[in-house]
Amino acid sequence: MEKSNILPTHIGIIMDGNGRWAQKRGMLRSIGHRYGTETIKPAISFCSGKGIKYLTLYAFSTENWKRPSYEVDTLMSLISEYLTKETAEMKANNVVLHFIGDIDKIPQKARATISWAEKETSENNGLNVNIALNYGGRAEIVMAAKKIASLSKQGAVSEDDINEGLISSLLYTAGIPEPDLIIRTGGEKRLSNFLIWQSAYSELYFSDVLWPDFKDDEFEKALDYYASRKRRFGGL
Ligand code: IPE
Ligand code: IPE
Ligand code: MG
Repeated sequence: MEKSNILPTHIGIIMDGNGRWAQKRGMLRSIGHRYGTETIKPAISFCSGKGIKYLTLYAFSTENWKRPSYEVDTLMSLISEYLTKETAEMKANNVVLHFIGDIDKIPQKARATISWAEKETSENNGLNVNIALNYGGRAEIVMAAKKIASLSKQGAVSEDDINEGLISSLLYTAGIPEPDLIIRTGGEKRLSNFLIWQSAYSELYFSDVLWPDFKDDEFEKALDYYASRKRRFGGL
């Protein structure tokens, strides 16, 4: 098939496989998360270089709290560490950082760094990087339903006003185009509660490569796959 040059506008990535990457090397899972965090920077540069507009990275799900507390703690500290180290460069590279998910439940220190990093990059207009943190697609839909109930109680919406557009506008991703391509690394073929409303028509690409090993050449394969798809959206 002839290769097309069509690029996705919005790419979502389920960055999975950090734990297995470390375990395979006889290292602690936490070390895998550290290496996984280091893979974020090249992924951002790759997308910036390609002129992609939106990149959404699944960093921590609403279900990941079930993990042992030392692993959760490591992940939370890695957020502040990463942002402290990388925000200046992201700012210089015209990246706009934005967090989606229930950030209120994130430890105060990480939350403060998140607000700072978002503010630092808010004047930029290049690649939009959304980090999904304490994010769950079902929780997000429940949140939207509660907002509708409250708007309805205030008389601000009636039953006829409830449609797909209204629901989309009440999600964390309001105003962001739906993901064209979702990549999951680490071999599992599931969404694990990532952007379940928004992915209704996303192309899905599953790679066996563990996230810390997902470099530019693997990213190119995902884009090649995307370019080869014919998107029909239910039409012919
Ligand atoms: C993904 O890697 C990162 C998070 C879920 C935070 P995992 O930690 O799930 O790695 P595996 O799947 O156990 O290898
Ligand atoms: C999905 O990975 C969540 C993130 C990558 C942040 P998990 O490792 O939590 O997913 P499951 O448990 O394999 O479904
Ligand atoms: Mg996993």
